[in-house]
Amino acid sequence: MKIETVMKIKIVLVVAAIVCVAACERNQQPIGGIASKSATSALFTEKASASIPEGVSYVAAVMPSEVVQELDAATLYQQTCAACHQANGQGIPAAFPPLDNSPYVTSDNVERLAAIIVYGLQGPIVVNGQTYTSVMAPLGAQRNDAELAKIATYIRSSWSNQAAAVDAAVFAAVREKYGSRGMFTIEELGGNES
Ligand code: HEC
Repeated sequence: MKIETVMKIKIVLVVAAIVCVAACERNQQPIGGIASKSATSALFTEKASASIPEGVSYVAAVMPSEVVQELDAATLYQQTCAACHQANGQGIPAAFPPLDNSPYVTSDNVERLAAIIVYGLQGPIVVNGQTYTSVMAPLGAQRNDAELAKIATYIRSSWSNQAAAVDAAVFAAVREKYGSRGMFTIEELGGNES
């Protein structure tokens, strides 16, 4: 047999094989169909997971974002505030002021509390007789009004604090009132609480 003829036969065989697999797939025949289907879905899974950016969990990628972002108040506090003010709300002496038993937290002046959280605070502040001269970066861009209200409500009713809940509308009103601006000093917010 000529080499050319051998090649032609080989090509015909390969084409026949491809057509057969394609036909099996389309007709979903029991044996070949199942085999090629699972091979296809394995390939799909591989592709799908490869397209998920690093650090994003598979669950986060497949679940609707509202479900994933619906965090409870304690978790929001842990993730947004506890690194500095601590899980027990005591802060760290000389560095981070306490939220537990702080008049800035429990006062009826919830607008001031919202302003501190959204825009941050800098310069000296006296909390329960201790002076802190530091900086708290703004958190307004990190969390929406509903989340910030949950956090404010949480810190006002945790540890020894027993103050009323804060509505998301308070945060919306504060953002509306002050717009885009830098950090507050406590003087700009009415001065220190005695
Ligand atoms: C990166 C550290 C850090 C994070 C995170 C942080 N704070 Fe602060 N916070 C501070 C510092 C420092 C001060 C004091 C700033 C100053 O000296 O003017 C402060 C002050 C405050 C005050 C006024 C003083 C007091 O103790 O009552 C409140 C209220 C407050 N923070 C609430 C919060 C809440 C609520 C969160 C989370 C949504 C939060 N902070 C996240 C560092 C932080």
